[in-house]
Amino acid sequence: MITIISATNRKDSLTIKVAQFYSQLLTTENVTNQVMDLCDLPRDFMFSNSFGNSTEEFTLMIHKYIQGAQKFVVISPEYHGSYPGIFKSLMDCIGGDGVGEKKVALVGVASGRAGNLRGMEHLTSLFHHLKAEVFSAKPKLSEIHNLLNEKGIIENPETVALLQDQIKRFVKF
Ligand SMILES: Cc1cc2nc3c(=O)[nH]c(=O)nc-3n(C[C@H](O)[C@H](O)[C@H](O)COP(=O)(O)O)c2cc1C
Repeated sequence: MITIISATNRKDSLTIKVAQFYSQLLTTENVTNQVMDLCDLPRDFMFSNSFGNSTEEFTLMIHKYIQGAQKFVVISPEYHGSYPGIFKSLMDCIGGDGVGEKKVALVGVASGRAGNLRGMEHLTSLFHHLKAEVFSAKPKLSEIHNLLNEKGIIENPETVALLQDQIKRFVKF
């Protein structure tokens, strides 16, 4: 099982659309997958699931999406030159037990031209600190509003080829 994590809690984000498109690509390759939308996190999860505290709702989510996965694809928007703070908060709550020794692929999403290049580096540092292995190919989807059509499909052949190449090699990683 691969969990695709849409690393933002922004309602109607373009990142969740990319995550759903990525899920379709994985399904086409017969790879079992599920999408974790950070919009579904309990509103107060950071306070109620850190420093020794836990709630059933959060624990069930982590069991399904984190412990229940062998690999992760983290699709992260660029917020202020990095990945969203909510994703770091999630990692601070679950720690290395959830992702350590598992494999992670990264995809950057941005309205600007850098495609979240710096966020990809920051995420790589974070996952290596947590003893997870990060796959080398990290597609960076710049000017995302021009790539997704109104149905949430990416039609640009070069971008689709980049994602398909990442998938084909990541499943063997
Ligand atoms: C808090 C915030 C900060 C952002 N900072 C950047 C940025 O530094 N660079 C950039 O290219 N886009 C930035 N954006 C725009 C996002 O890249 C854009 O909203 C894009 O659609 C991906 O984010 P989304 O998944 O929330 O839609 C920012 C958006 C938000 C909400």
